[in-house]
Amino acid sequence: MNKIVVANMKMNLTIDLIKEYLNEINNNEVIYFPTAIYIPYFIEKNLKVGIQNISCYEKGNHTGEISALQVSSLNIKYAIVGHSETNDNSSNINKKLKLCLKYDIIPILCIGEKSLTDDIKTVLKKQLDKYLKDIKNINKIMLAYEPEWMIGTNNNIEISKLEEIISFIKEFIYQKYKISDIIVLYGGSINSHNIKYINKIPYLDGILVGNNSTNIKEFLKIIEVALNQ
Ligand code: 13P
Repeated sequence: MNKIVVANMKMNLTIDLIKEYLNEINNNEVIYFPTAIYIPYFIEKNLKVGIQNISCYEKGNHTGEISALQVSSLNIKYAIVGHSETNDNSSNINKKLKLCLKYDIIPILCIGEKSLTDDIKTVLKKQLDKYLKDIKNINKIMLAYEPEWMIGTNNNIEISKLEEIISFIKEFIYQKYKISDIIVLYGGSINSHNIKYINKIPYLDGILVGNNSTNIKEFLKIIEVALNQ
């Protein structure tokens, strides 16, 4: 089955490069997360688009922040919540999830251990317990397993380990919330080589590509594998 492909473009590209990118990459199955100011260019091309971060406040005097209501008023359907690069605390992540769900935005909730030596399952359980506290529509949330120590390294994740973690997350959500179809993505140094192996993991629903989502050649190859093989 095809995987869900998400492009977290982070704080990369400027307007000229965004225009060039959109001439080369306009696959409407991918969900693109450009820097917020460039979102209208993706909407113009009828592409699926999301916001990299939203405010934990509902409205008011919060300079520089973007609210879930504002995001939803542009019909933007996705938001990344709790990416390790935003340094959010658990309480803010929980507030952001609730605001996304209130305004019909699908949150992509990032979870994952900081370092290779962490006890992964304990970390994930703790994060999920705190982030999902008092949330009713957990089935509307997508999860993304993103070990911090893998992000931006261009190293290859160990496939058998990744397979085990994805199954563990799904099993945990099933045991605790009785949800059997939670969507789980993986993100961390995905490239045109390792996608061939990552793509074969049966329970994995999709990928969250960072740096290589802004490298046109690499991303086209990644999309080709994830959406067609
Ligand atoms: P990289 O693909 O650059 O490692 O980033 C992953 C990520 O942070 C996606 O959200």
